[in-house]
Amino acid sequence: MNKNYLYHKNAVIMKNIFIKNIKGLVQVGENLPHRVGGPNAAEVPMIENAFLALEDGCRVVAYGSMDDWDGIDDWRNLEVIDAEGCYVLPAFCDAHTHTVFAKTREGEFVDRINGLSYEEIALKGGGILNSARALSQLTEDELFDISFRRVERIIESGTGALEIKSGYGLSVEAELKILRVIKRIKVKAPIEIKATFLGAHAFPIDYKNDHEGYIDEIISKMLPAIAAEGLADYIDVFCERNYFSIEEMERILEAGKKIGLIPKVHVNQFTTIGGVASAIKSGALSVDHLEELNDKDIAALKGSKCMPTFLPGCSHFLNIPFGKATDLIEENIPFALASDFNPGSTPCYSMSQIWSLACIKMRLTPEQALNAMTLNAAYAMGLEGSHGKIALGLNAPIIMTKPISSMAYIPYSFGENLIQRVFTKPIEE
Ligand code: NIG
Ligand code: FE
Repeated sequence: MNKNYLYHKNAVIMKNIFIKNIKGLVQVGENLPHRVGGPNAAEVPMIENAFLALEDGCRVVAYGSMDDWDGIDDWRNLEVIDAEGCYVLPAFCDAHTHTVFAKTREGEFVDRINGLSYEEIALKGGGILNSARALSQLTEDELFDISFRRVERIIESGTGALEIKSGYGLSVEAELKILRVIKRIKVKAPIEIKATFLGAHAFPIDYKNDHEGYIDEIISKMLPAIAAEGLADYIDVFCERNYFSIEEMERILEAGKKIGLIPKVHVNQFTTIGGVASAIKSGALSVDHLEELNDKDIAALKGSKCMPTFLPGCSHFLNIPFGKATDLIEENIPFALASDFNPGSTPCYSMSQIWSLACIKMRLTPEQALNAMTLNAAYAMGLEGSHGKIALGLNAPIIMTKPISSMAYIPYSFGENLIQRVFTKPIEE
């Protein structure tokens, strides 16, 4: 076979999908970098008037320009889609969510409108503790059912890899319940799921004045059980005033690393207490939130392997500053964008919305933001190489938009659902 376009050598196009007349095939190519920053982040490779052939749902077997297309050898079991006017992109990678929760918290939303701050609500026993109380009432099966329904909607919205944290349990039993639910989601969902243990999300009421007691529960009870059942990939700590101090974070991360969990932490949401440098020293794959970021934090990030991850949905919903991503571009530091989907600070999982907020509020171009939600976000989940791009042989979800005038129309038309179809691996019944 001698074709002008890229064709995977071992591919046999059988029950499969051929997408033709694609207006723009985006973030596509062989040997794309694992992360992009600085001036390179302004570029997204695209083939105009393209085709894409997929087998088994989303494995890429061929792509190229329609001008070079010279027919298909085997038309059996082939679904042909005419994507005239549509864009095709790698599905978004959402590297930071709290998708497994029991109940929404719109009461606190109204309390904030009436003048209370997020911190004031938390100090009164609301916030994370409110979610932990609700979660303790549900069985593992009930929690799985509501969470899996959320995951289905998340996939429909264009997310093709999802990180999910525990952290609304805050007891040995309830943290394990959440992590077991995430493990069941991993098995059933047609997308890649990463599990993060966030026992150190807040101090439960019983340990309000006994921080050492709760840290001991985390280290000597939760972590061994997690190791025994293989329940987590990452370990997270909410390092913040009134939550976990730097010293507490360091100890918890060290204990997590001993059982193979890689740090991925919440820092700098409200205050800069030095958590960024300390997390990087602990080997963090990502430092997330960064609504506040000072020169010392930026110096620590520069040249490191850690992926700073901004969460503009949280900034928007809590009415707190947006992360200064453009400062990182000037410093040549790659960064990711994630949703932070959770019932308290960000009740929104739509990465299209995150794309809009990043452009409108963080002054990122559509291309800069897209790199942060695909290539760089895949890196922040340990999925660089397999997700966040379209390349031969990859088996990661892909999205097709509705007909639109340009790629920039997606973040421009904020609030509109422009995802027409999501291609994933076949769904197991
Ligand atoms: O990432 N800040 C810590 N955790 C979550 C919010 C938790 C909640 O309010 O339920 C966040 O914003
Ligand atoms: Fe979060």
